[in-house]
Amino acid sequence: MPSHKILLDEEEIPKKWYNIQPDLPEPLPPPINPATREPVNPKDLEAVFPKECIKQEMSQERWIDIPKEILEIYRLWRPTPLYRAINLEKALKTPAKIYYKYEGVSPPGSHKTNTAIAQAYYAKKEGMTRISTETGAGQWGSALAFSCNILGMKSTVYMVRASYDQKPYRRVMMETWGAEVYASPTDRTEAGKSILAEDPDSPGSLGIAISEAIEDSLKDEKTKYTLGSVLNHVLLHQTVIGLETKKAMASLEEYPDSIFGCIGGGSSFSGLYWPFYYDVASGKAPKDVEFIAVESTACPKVTKGYYIYDHFDVARMTPMGKMHTLGHMFVPAPIHAGGLRYHGMAPTLCLLKQKGIMKSKAYNQVDAFKAGHLFAKTEGIISAPEPNHAIKAVIDEALRCKETGEEKTLLFLLCGHGHFDMQGYDDYLHGKLLPYEYPQKKVDEAMQKLIKIYPWLKEEIKNYR
Ligand SMILES: Cc1ncc(COP(=O)(O)O)c(C=O)c1O
Repeated sequence: MPSHKILLDEEEIPKKWYNIQPDLPEPLPPPINPATREPVNPKDLEAVFPKECIKQEMSQERWIDIPKEILEIYRLWRPTPLYRAINLEKALKTPAKIYYKYEGVSPPGSHKTNTAIAQAYYAKKEGMTRISTETGAGQWGSALAFSCNILGMKSTVYMVRASYDQKPYRRVMMETWGAEVYASPTDRTEAGKSILAEDPDSPGSLGIAISEAIEDSLKDEKTKYTLGSVLNHVLLHQTVIGLETKKAMASLEEYPDSIFGCIGGGSSFSGLYWPFYYDVASGKAPKDVEFIAVESTACPKVTKGYYIYDHFDVARMTPMGKMHTLGHMFVPAPIHAGGLRYHGMAPTLCLLKQKGIMKSKAYNQVDAFKAGHLFAKTEGIISAPEPNHAIKAVIDEALRCKETGEEKTLLFLLCGHGHFDMQGYDDYLHGKLLPYEYPQKKVDEAMQKLIKIYPWLKEEIKNYR
């Protein structure tokens, strides 16, 4: 009988993070200043981010040492377990094997803590006393509040209004760890005030909350801003996930055929797939591996968006990055997977998608919750709404394997638990969820708005489609 759970020893926590940049098929298009269209000077980012994070952002070093103070904190919940979803396999009657790595065992309940600790640590080392940030689902804000608390720092969190209203207990969790939490848009910042002037009932978006958090950090020299996803340094901190998974699977003499993860900004999935991509890029992978990024049909940036330069935030305070985008002014439908409501995507993942190395799929929240419900009934863990999208993709593939008789090994990331998402499950169980689909027409219209702001984008937009 195979084991349900594979656990590594604490000594097996990786000592280095993996950076994908030197192994990309071509150099990553650099972030640019929209006024000059020149690559941003790392010095320009120093007002906002810790210097070490900027260094890692641009780094071409493949392996980056994890400071021992961070490793010590990781030991609180790492290594995280790898599970074989035996009960789900049985329920589906599939010949496929299904494995999942579970990050919900971190104190705040998700993968986000892997980078929150690192970013807060580097800010503190540079003399900072406070961190400001945004949060969508509340997972990132919780991870940051936890990390600041453990490192003796203050934290301020701008929480997207829709999630603030849906998940009051996430706010209480952050406040328990000492964070100040505000429903964004707020009247504390110019960015927030301008949105409220147009729409006093704005449900907010991650793009707006990012603008608010950056503005807040710029007002105080002892405060840095941190981001929970998208940027290279954030993603590389997550690679402890994939590195541990490889070790645990090797102990079973297993290697995945297909790797799945949900994508909001791409950090959790990158944490899982980067180390396997390294095997592929360096010729060490024992077989072909498929990478499948799964998003929400309510926010289909990779499946319907354009691969162009766009801002990472609504108020255009950030540089522009080359990525799949729905347009930075995108305001998402209030789906329960708050973490999937971001308009853009990690530039590294987008480059691989453009090169045909990454595949993508989108599901609506009704289908995703249905998959999460089956998972909860078979495997017991109540998943966050975001990874329910990955579970749906895995179930579809396992059922396809049933038809064809393929004995594939499927791996996915269960990046967080859904204990604060009971409203979503309640709505699902009572037939109240709406299967939002964002139409292509709206994406095309957003591109026309972008051209009005930056006429030079016209060529890029035209060439992409
Ligand atoms: C549990 C969970 N999963 C996934 C995401 C999506 O973000 P990312 O793609 O960066 O992992 C979030 C973001 O808030 C999240 O909280």
